[in-house]
Amino acid sequence: MTPPTRLIVDVDTGIDDSVALLYLLAREDADIVAVLSTAGNVPTAQVAANNLAWLDLCGRPDIEVAVGADGPLKIPLRTTEDTHGPQGIGYAVLPPSTRALSERSAAQAWIELTRENPGELVALVTGPLTNLALAIRADPELPQRLRRLVVMGGAFQHPGNTTPVAEWNISVDPEAAAEVFAAFSSVPEDRAPIVCGLDVTERIELRPDHLRRLAELADSTPVELIGSDDAPDARSTTSNPIVRHLSDAVRFYFQFHRDHGQGFIAHMHDPFAAAVALDPTIARYRAATVDVETEGRITRGQTVADWHGLWGRSPNAAITWETDADAFLDDLILRLAAFARTVTPPGNRTDR
Ligand code: RIB
Ligand code: CA
Repeated sequence: MTPPTRLIVDVDTGIDDSVALLYLLAREDADIVAVLSTAGNVPTAQVAANNLAWLDLCGRPDIEVAVGADGPLKIPLRTTEDTHGPQGIGYAVLPPSTRALSERSAAQAWIELTRENPGELVALVTGPLTNLALAIRADPELPQRLRRLVVMGGAFQHPGNTTPVAEWNISVDPEAAAEVFAAFSSVPEDRAPIVCGLDVTERIELRPDHLRRLAELADSTPVELIGSDDAPDARSTTSNPIVRHLSDAVRFYFQFHRDHGQGFIAHMHDPFAAAVALDPTIARYRAATVDVETEGRITRGQTVADWHGLWGRSPNAAITWETDADAFLDDLILRLAAFARTVTPPGNRTDR
């Protein structure tokens, strides 16, 4: 039996980060070693509170949650509550955790965990790269100690979602992204970071009927179908806590995408990256040398891919280029439903 993939997960929880965390918790072949909180969608403290609350809801108070830097390496933090909601988890209202955060910083956790587990950990970053960059500044050998890095970020032959050319995670902290891509130029090409950019993740469209199917498969009642014309204060009342809170979180994301002309859907950027981290064979890739524009007046934050070695630098990224979006979404719903059925509401637990 293949041992589970051991993961460092660095997130800016957010709605799709939340789905990614639940998906990883649902995967029996995943072992989350630590959840590191990076400012992005919402400030770091809120990200950390969201991480603790989701882990408590899922009965996983054993997983370390560390807090990262308050903001990017060089520029002021910009958050996006309009995308992810005032607390970063849409309309979901999770029971606040009383559990303590890790005493070490996210950057220190990056360094210590990779030293303690050289060559064993897969790292998934679904937010800005600030804390990974800080860790690498303090310990330049860190990239050599990772089994694999998977990043949700960037846009290559696809428009940005934050500026015409820049994707959010990179745009929040372009300096950090540039430093991380440069630092990973030295790892063997077969362990180059996998980069899940908008080129693929904006094809991963969760729809309301996916959540209806989730409720059905999770034996949650009533089974609800979130509608674009629902009352503004409509919230889920379905019985399963995972399905209920997830529905409230994603409802906000459906509305955001609709209001931005993308349809009543929700792009599952981070859950897709999580699935790739566990099984890279679900996608096909193009090798490139990636660098990040940090000086451009209108292009700052753009991820530039040199596909043909024009810079004379070896490739430092495997960019996801093709995947079966429907197959991934089916897997996401099936795994979440099976997991939701196992989660007992915190109030009913006997083990606490
Ligand atoms: O551009 C999409 C990315 O930015 C996702 O990780 C989302 O959570 C936000 O962080
Ligand atoms: Ca994210």
